[in-house]
Amino acid sequence: MAKKTVADVDVKGKRVLMRVDFNVPIEGGKITDDRRIVQAMPTIKSVIERGGRLILMSHLGRPKGGPEPKYSLKPVAARLAQLVNQCHAVPGAAKGRNTTDLHVMRDPAEASADTMAAVRFADDCIGPQVDRLVAELRDGDVLLLENLRFHKEEEKNDPNFARQLARHGDVYVNDAFGTAHREHASTFGVPQAMQGKRRVIGFLIQKELKFLGDAVTRPAKPFVAILGGAKVSDKIEVIKALLDKADTLLIGGAMAYTFFLAQGREVGRSLVERDKVELAKELLAKAGKKIRLPQDNVIASEMTDTAQTRVIEGDIPADMEGFDIGPRTRAAYSAEIARAKTVIWNGPMGVFEKKPFAEGTRAVAQACADATKRNGAVTIIGGGDSAAAVEQMGLAEAVSHVSTGGGASLEFLESGHFSTIDILD
Ligand code: 3PG
Ligand code: MG
Repeated sequence: MAKKTVADVDVKGKRVLMRVDFNVPIEGGKITDDRRIVQAMPTIKSVIERGGRLILMSHLGRPKGGPEPKYSLKPVAARLAQLVNQCHAVPGAAKGRNTTDLHVMRDPAEASADTMAAVRFADDCIGPQVDRLVAELRDGDVLLLENLRFHKEEEKNDPNFARQLARHGDVYVNDAFGTAHREHASTFGVPQAMQGKRRVIGFLIQKELKFLGDAVTRPAKPFVAILGGAKVSDKIEVIKALLDKADTLLIGGAMAYTFFLAQGREVGRSLVERDKVELAKELLAKAGKKIRLPQDNVIASEMTDTAQTRVIEGDIPADMEGFDIGPRTRAAYSAEIARAKTVIWNGPMGVFEKKPFAEGTRAVAQACADATKRNGAVTIIGGGDSAAAVEQMGLAEAVSHVSTGGGASLEFLESGHFSTIDILD
């Protein structure tokens, strides 16, 4: 069903409470991949430019339910302030403000205080102090709340906690695609508590749903799905769902070795899920020729950057482990992708973080980029590791869409909807 978006709401002067997924990797206080923040900017910009008062809420990592400094969103506020002011300067927006306020995150290099939109940071997401900061917001201001998961009630979707969050907003926007598969307070309880008010999706969710939705409901054919990663168990439901829709399923990653066991082959010390072998047998029986498994594999005795590797076509020797798809498989999979009009890829083909085992993932990424360029194929990279790989290989702009949701994109491919989005206007 078509969803109302933030563009359908007059936000001028209104408090816009927006759930974003700013769960970004942070190392030593530095954000190592800001894609999720950058991808939320179109919605953020739209609210600011139309004079909305924006209150942003997100989780970061998996804290135990109380405040933990390493999971603070403060570094995110600083990056957000840079991005807001790079793409946006409100004349006089910050005039007369107390610029020494510690919680006003500014990037002095970007613009003078006079022309900057204020991005404030609140040390908590609920409570009287936050209520005060919200009340002080002026049109075009932004307030980022501290990590929602510093309250255990967030993941429990506690109705009282949800009501306290809901109080912050006149309008609810969900643009947290990466968290759309979680029925938590901020994604479910809050829009429930805001019944009667406008509750809409942002432009990032709109874009993600368009790419993933079109791919599952009306894919241009041939439709090739590529599934990798360590575990079959993570991908069972998506394999089942895609068996009906895709023309071909290319399997890589350690997951392939569980399928090898199902075929009665030897896999040496490779990572497998023995309790999933029966299931792999069933999937193979059901799939007929649709499922393609690697013809050859890159094997080694250790998973290191300096490992001695071999390519093997048959059984994997007892003292060795498979870590990547081999050259014949790379060529065969690339040829399959070259014929496709729609490609969905989730999960790396090998241990791409280690140089000797990166070629399979690289070849598939390149084949996706080529298919888009040469055939106008729609190529969609599920989030998580495959998104990181494509990013790392500099091919993110060369494919049609890199999702900001790992678990979320998988779940959407499985079920075709999210309850957190179903409840919105
Ligand atoms: C993610 O990165 O997968 C999302 O932000 C959701 O986080 P979670 O898996 O900890 O719920
Ligand atoms: Mg996850």
